[in-house]
Amino acid sequence: DWTMAEFRKTKIAEIREQVGDGKVICGLSGGVDSAVAAVLIHEAIGEQLTCVFVDHGLMRMGEAEQVVSLFKEHYNIPLVHVDAEEMFMSGLAGETDPEKKRKFIGKTFIDVFEDEAGEIGGADFLAQGTLYPDVIESVSFTGGPSVTIKSHHNVGGLPERMNMQLVEPLRELFKDEVRELGRELGLPEVFVGRHPFPGPGLAIRIPGEVTKERCDILRKADAIYLEEIRNAGLYDAIWQAFAVLLPVKTVGVMGDGRTYDSVCGLRAVTSTDGMTADVYPFDASFLSRVATRIINEVKGINRVVYDYTSKPPGTIEWE
Ligand code: XMP
Repeated sequence: DWTMAEFRKTKIAEIREQVGDGKVICGLSGGVDSAVAAVLIHEAIGEQLTCVFVDHGLMRMGEAEQVVSLFKEHYNIPLVHVDAEEMFMSGLAGETDPEKKRKFIGKTFIDVFEDEAGEIGGADFLAQGTLYPDVIESVSFTGGPSVTIKSHHNVGGLPERMNMQLVEPLRELFKDEVRELGRELGLPEVFVGRHPFPGPGLAIRIPGEVTKERCDILRKADAIYLEEIRNAGLYDAIWQAFAVLLPVKTVGVMGDGRTYDSVCGLRAVTSTDGMTADVYPFDASFLSRVATRIINEVKGINRVVYDYTSKPPGTIEWE
């Protein structure tokens, strides 16, 4: 019978076989998947691996620091931290189409990796934490005709000119299995248990144009929401929870003044693999507390709504 310990051994052998004495560059997104892939590959080939964390400025509050400290302090795995915020923000300026935003981000990631690969004198392989559902959902919708729902930024291969092969050791796994593998590899529970976070980051939680200012507003609202979820002891019961900043302004009243600010949407779902999802049924008092805090503490938001859509027909992310 099949265990994670065996999977770990088999994959390590496969990675060594595939890579030989080549050099591998691994992109860290801040999420569990790419971290688990990196740790597994490091175990297989050690110094032949260079990890690159591309900070696109679309991370949640404190996330970049957490990833960097996990790799540098906990694992001592060499990590290149690239601050690419300016490049991503300027490229996203004026873009409102969800697929174009995703495609731009995916392409820019590759550009940055390519530069970094050049820096280390060339890499033969690019490692990614692609999971089974990422592969399926980018290709077709289960049970339906073959249509692309969303272009997951880490699926779809590499540009020809890159001359790098992909190393994707998690390609057959579902999220819960990746978490199990992460535990098997000794990743801290707080890291392994983190909610999924999409590669394109906050860009797909800001329908309409993405700006640094809107990212900052969303980061604050999202941090309050997650803090309340943790305080209520609900974090582990939820597959994913996050705030969305809508491109809609509404009228409000605060003190004796009129406000005209953005709407914040809150999403929380339960799921086992992200392919289908149910709405998390918070108590009304919990939602009121979060709404009040966000409106009082985050300048730029004056209304909060809760998303009651399951998947299908909705998707988990808004774009
Ligand atoms: P959707 O929105 O398609 O999301 O219902 C299903 C799960 O996938 C995550 N997601 C992504 N993960 N790159 C990723 O690594 C992506 O481009 C991407 N898009 C969505 C989403 O957060 C959810 O967990």
